[in-house]
Amino acid sequence: MIIRPLEITSLTKEFTTPTGKHVAVKDFSIKVQPGEFVSLLGHSGCGKSTVLSIVAGLQQATFGGVVIDGTEVTTPGLERGVVFQSPSLLPWMTALENVALAVRQVHSALTGRQQRDLAMRYLSLTGVGEFASQWPAELSQGTQQRIAIARALSLEPRFLLLDEPFGMLDSMTRFELQDLVLELWEKDRRTVMLVTHDIDEALYLSDRIVLMTDGPEARVGLDLAITLPRPRERRMAAGNPEYMRLRGDVIRFLEHHSKQFSGEVAA
Ligand SMILES: Nc1ncnc2c1ncn2[C@@H]1O[C@H](COP(=O)(O)OP(=O)(O)OP(=O)(O)O)[C@@H](O)[C@H]1O
Ligand SMILES: [Mg+2]
Repeated sequence: MIIRPLEITSLTKEFTTPTGKHVAVKDFSIKVQPGEFVSLLGHSGCGKSTVLSIVAGLQQATFGGVVIDGTEVTTPGLERGVVFQSPSLLPWMTALENVALAVRQVHSALTGRQQRDLAMRYLSLTGVGEFASQWPAELSQGTQQRIAIARALSLEPRFLLLDEPFGMLDSMTRFELQDLVLELWEKDRRTVMLVTHDIDEALYLSDRIVLMTDGPEARVGLDLAITLPRPRERRMAAGNPEYMRLRGDVIRFLEHHSKQFSGEVAA
């Protein structure tokens, strides 16, 4: 089987607003290679989620689009697992039932017991097996997000699409979950697209950072290969010359291509 890249070609998204047409993203094109970890980075409102949700099949492009294995993406699909900023678990189901519901979509031939066993395996994989019988409302944000990651992985997707999955977490929990995602990715090298506006998060995790210009008509501004060796260590952020060079490139881009730049992102 020839495994082809995921291709986003001339993706343009227009929204109709009360004040007229708003072209959020224009002519956005990238190819994502199988197994690659790519981050989409840019200021708030530049169009990162718009691009990711079109890849997820949750929205349609106005022009251009996304092609996987020669087929245009128009709907969500089981080969694409999505995790959002908010864990969005079903509140009336336990952690285990939330994951088992996803398992059922992929393994409908298994018995209920087998589906629950498999769901349990994914909960254990993301470190939350002990919370299997608890309700989402009883659990911390970090634990809920681990369950949401287990749910996405249980689809055994080729692509993991993550939209600021660590955005609502405190910094220690954020570090733990970044490490979890990195560990899982290193194990099976699923293709990951991560939306973030955290420069250090993107540098720590990615093979490549795609920086978007500010909208309207946001596009790819800089496509930066992250050549830092793996496995990576968080402390490389302090004093590693290559890290500092890449970080400088990102910050300079944001300064020069963004109307909204504030010192905040450079901190
Ligand atoms: N349904 C919609 N209708 C009209 N405009 C929209 C809609 N969805 C997004 N937009 C606009 O498109 C632009 C891009 O939004 P998007 O949510 O993709 O940005 P983002 O980079 O993900 O931002 P953030 O970092 O804050 O999540 C914004 O100007 C937003 O207001
Ligand atoms: Mg967003």
